[in-house]
Amino acid sequence: MAKEKSYFCCSECGYQSPKQMGRCPGCNNWNTLTEELIRPDRPKVAFPGRELRALIDVSGEETMRFQSGNYELDRVLGGGIVPGSLILLGGEPGIGKSTLLLQIADYLDKAGKKVLYLSGEESSRQIKMRADRLGIDGRNIYIINEANLDFLAGYIDQIKPDLVIVDSIQTVYIPEIGSIPGSVAQLRESAARVMEIAKKTDLPFVLIGHVTKEGAIAGPKVLEHLVDTVIYFEGDTNNFYRILRTVKNRFGPANEMGILEMSGQGLIEVDNPSRIFLRHRHGLPGLAVVASFEGTRPILVEVEALVVPSVIGYPRRMASGIEGNRLSLLVAVLEKRGGLSMGNKDVYIKVAGGASLKDPATDLGVALAMASSFYDTPLPSGSIVVGELGLSGEVRSVSNLTLRLKEAKKLGFVRALIPNETGQEAVNTLGLEVIPVDTLAEALIKNRHNGGMHFEG
Ligand code: TYD
Ligand code: MG
Repeated sequence: MAKEKSYFCCSECGYQSPKQMGRCPGCNNWNTLTEELIRPDRPKVAFPGRELRALIDVSGEETMRFQSGNYELDRVLGGGIVPGSLILLGGEPGIGKSTLLLQIADYLDKAGKKVLYLSGEESSRQIKMRADRLGIDGRNIYIINEANLDFLAGYIDQIKPDLVIVDSIQTVYIPEIGSIPGSVAQLRESAARVMEIAKKTDLPFVLIGHVTKEGAIAGPKVLEHLVDTVIYFEGDTNNFYRILRTVKNRFGPANEMGILEMSGQGLIEVDNPSRIFLRHRHGLPGLAVVASFEGTRPILVEVEALVVPSVIGYPRRMASGIEGNRLSLLVAVLEKRGGLSMGNKDVYIKVAGGASLKDPATDLGVALAMASSFYDTPLPSGSIVVGELGLSGEVRSVSNLTLRLKEAKKLGFVRALIPNETGQEAVNTLGLEVIPVDTLAEALIKNRHNGGMHFEG
């Protein structure tokens, strides 16, 4: 047998290196490189000589999706589960991944389908206890405590399930790969093996992947390119809300967002998401409501800003829910184009409900929240703010403006600051008072005329 060689592989980003390093050059994380074996003697496989078909001959009927029973999950999947697809559900330990999938298994069971639940993590007894708590009997849910993926195809043959759940991809393994379960090599090969089975059997598979901070086990990130759909389950374990976010979807829109609430009886769907991100507070300086478009729907979110004099030499900029670079950029635009001297101010930003704002249409709202705190003057009550900010302070038009305004109207808002650039007549303002603005400076002044901010300088 040829001598086994090894290399080092980052458990966070998959960066490969022939030698050990303290810090990964790929993602700059510390102590994430682990040793992996290169197996030189893989068995040779004969050319299968398949029957070939031109694209024109491939049947193009819309594949039959089936509902998971969880409206929010179905939406983030693009309308349900696609047979033969491989879905990766990533999230921190304890966020509720196993709970969600057990509930989905129950729904499918009640719909007359069979589920194979491969658990390398918890024993059948532990899963039974969770099922009891959720009121699930599980007539057609087969829990198998098995970590060796070589047997998966056999179990599928035996049970003939409609859905296969692998909980978790970090605990299963393929014996011929030398590395331990949870290593990058095992993770990749295991996911590739499941993918192979999924395409062969045309069954849908869900892989659970833990996201860990330490990097002792490889994270789901290294599998993203391999699977069909990647969904992250996020949220603060201190509150009850959980967000499902699609970051990749071969069968539907990416960036879709679903919201669930962890209750005593498992996860329940939240049908009015703005309920979480809005507290309907008025008259407070530093507060703005933005309309963020998430996937296929608008969600209104409250943004809080606190702008205070710096006590130390250089100003602090801290944000939760907004990316740091974006905050720096908005502060710079406020300084240069809005005329606020931010250089000696600390800035803190908080987005309600643990949401993370990525939609550029929320730029203007975040900037006005800061201005409102800066001048210690509230924005006019009942207003939402919509608009992207350019570097020269121009307020740019946004997508789906009417849908955003519709959501605002529905939730009782009366006024909206919107980009002027958007062909005014094309926008159905739905009876909202709209204040079109061209620039950040104009937005600051118009708010004053509407009984809001007052600017001295
Ligand atoms: P779990 O699904 O085990 O998380 P993961 O698989 O992502 O590691 O969820 C664990 C947490 O959820 C645990 O802290 C208990 C809580 N929980 C509830 O609040 N309500 C419930 O009905 C259930 C089953 C769990
Ligand atoms: Mg679990």
